This record gives sequence, C-alpha cells and structure tokens, in this order.
Amino acid sequence: MKVTVIGAGFVGATTAQRIAEAGLADVVVLDVADGIAKGKGLDLQQAAPVVGHSQRILGTGDYSDCADSDLVVMTAGVPRKPGMSRDELLEVNAKIVTECMEKSAEVAPNSMVIMVTNPLDVTTYIAGKVTGFSKNRIMGMAGVLDSTRFRAFIGMELGVSGEDVSAMVLGGHGDSMVPMPRSATVSGIPLSDLMDQESIDKIVERTRVAGGEIVSLLGTGSAFYAPAAGVEQMAAAILRDEKRILPVSVLLEGEYGLSDVYLGVPVKLGAGGAEQIIEVTLTDEESEALKASAEAVKQVVAEYEAMVG
Ligand code: LAC
Repeated sequence: MKVTVIGAGFVGATTAQRIAEAGLADVVVLDVADGIAKGKGLDLQQAAPVVGHSQRILGTGDYSDCADSDLVVMTAGVPRKPGMSRDELLEVNAKIVTECMEKSAEVAPNSMVIMVTNPLDVTTYIAGKVTGFSKNRIMGMAGVLDSTRFRAFIGMELGVSGEDVSAMVLGGHGDSMVPMPRSATVSGIPLSDLMDQESIDKIVERTRVAGGEIVSLLGTGSAFYAPAAGVEQMAAAILRDEKRILPVSVLLEGEYGLSDVYLGVPVKLGAGGAEQIIEVTLTDEESEALKASAEAVKQVVAEYEAMVG
C-alpha cells in the first residue's frame, strides 16, 4: 500500500509518522518546499529501525513520486491565526487545494482522497470538483477530530478514560458543528446517566470551539496531533477494509434532507472508501442544527464558486 501526504507541515509530517509507524503503508510526503519534505522524510526513515517498522518513507517535491498511490491525504495550506475563522482561509487555500488535487489526480487517478485542509467541508467540495472522482473516494477528515475532542472532554469531566466514551459530532467543521450528546455513551452507559445537563452543555460548547482554543494557545499554527490521529483512523479503515462507522465529510445527495453539500455524517469506511452513508433518526432540534450547519458550509461554497467564476 502507498499513501501520499501532501504538505510536510505539522499535520502532514505527523500524519506520515503515524501511518508509517502503524505499519499501514509506505508513505510519500510531498511539499512545494521540497527540502522540508525531503528532510522530514529522511528523518522519519531513520527513525524506522529504532521504532521497529519496515515502511519506506520518501520526502519529495515531485508529484511523479506519488504515482499510483492508494490514498492521498491533503494537508497543505495555511492554518488559522488566533481569532480567525476557518472560512477566512478560503481564498488562499482554495488555490492550493485546486493545484495539488489537479496534480495528484493526474499521477494517482485511482486513489482515495482524505482532505484535511481548511475550510474542511469546502476544500472537500473543491477536491470533488477538481478530481471528478466518484463521491465514495472523496472524504473530509473533521468528524473524527471533533468527535475525539468531544470524547476527550467527556472523559476529562468524568475522570474516566476517553477511550470508553462513544460520541459523535456531525455537521460542518466550524462553529456550527453538531455534537450529539443524546447518543453519547460511556461503555454503553448513556451520558445523561452520568452527567448533568449543564456540564453536557458546557462540553458541547467547548467542543465547538476546540480547534480555536488550541490555535490561541499555540499562538502560531493549529492543532496537529489529534488531526493526524483522525486521519490515521480513517486511513486504517480504508487500507484495511475495516468497515468502521465514523463521522466523515461526504457529498450528501438527499440524505438527511440535504443535497449538494459535503457535510459530516456517519459513514461506513472500507476499501471502497465512503461505502455507505448511515442515516440516523434525528430529533427536530438536531435536524435543524444539521441544516443550519449545511447552510453555513453552502455559503462558503457559494463564495468559492463566485471566486472561480
Ligand atoms: C482544528 C483545525 C485544524 O480544528 O481545523 O484544529
């Protein structure tokens, strides 16, 4: 198996490390700053003997090295500065995503694609449009990230392992995302049996702005450990045909009463990529929140369409 990670920044390099060290695939890390890609690739390769894996890792600035990748992970782009919304990255990142996706689709025409660059649901839309790949092959990684944050906060509040928390966040990767406390459980125990509503509400709110919390703490750049872990989980599901049910940004065509929008919903992930969209029965309130989130994403897509004319 061969995975290309586009972008050798914090998210890209950490993703490459996780995928290689998990033994999922050989990894090509590509960056326009090819020295950085080559340096990090070499560093990761030199770690392999002591870490104990046999994957090959190559840093490059040349797309021909990505030929016939099974999976392309797109991380290149500019991160937020403190106080910025992800949507403000549209103009600069749309150009980067368009160029990278055109080139990678040419050399790896049969690959799956996981988008990570922000604004996530919009760059995933752009990737779908630029590559023309079937919709099962174009996925955005945000739901796993937002959900692991939600799970971690629940675990932190209860003083239990976040691993035992099962909880999902649906919708777009922005402040309008839709955490789903109603279906959250801790080892099968409903969250509402363990936590009062006020604490749940606080955690829901913190989850919505969790990316921004990290951006302001770091001062420069944005989160990368949890995003890279999110990509690894999706990559493993696809490369090992695991049939995991994970929240993934995919093209909706009538599901949840929504169309022509990439949005985070539960998806079955396997060798066929996004193999199936699972439609959960939502309360009216959840359904309204998901619609509002779709509208927020569509507004930025409209900005993009106006930009490209
Ligand atoms: C975050 C950014 C990367 O949520 O979108 O951390």
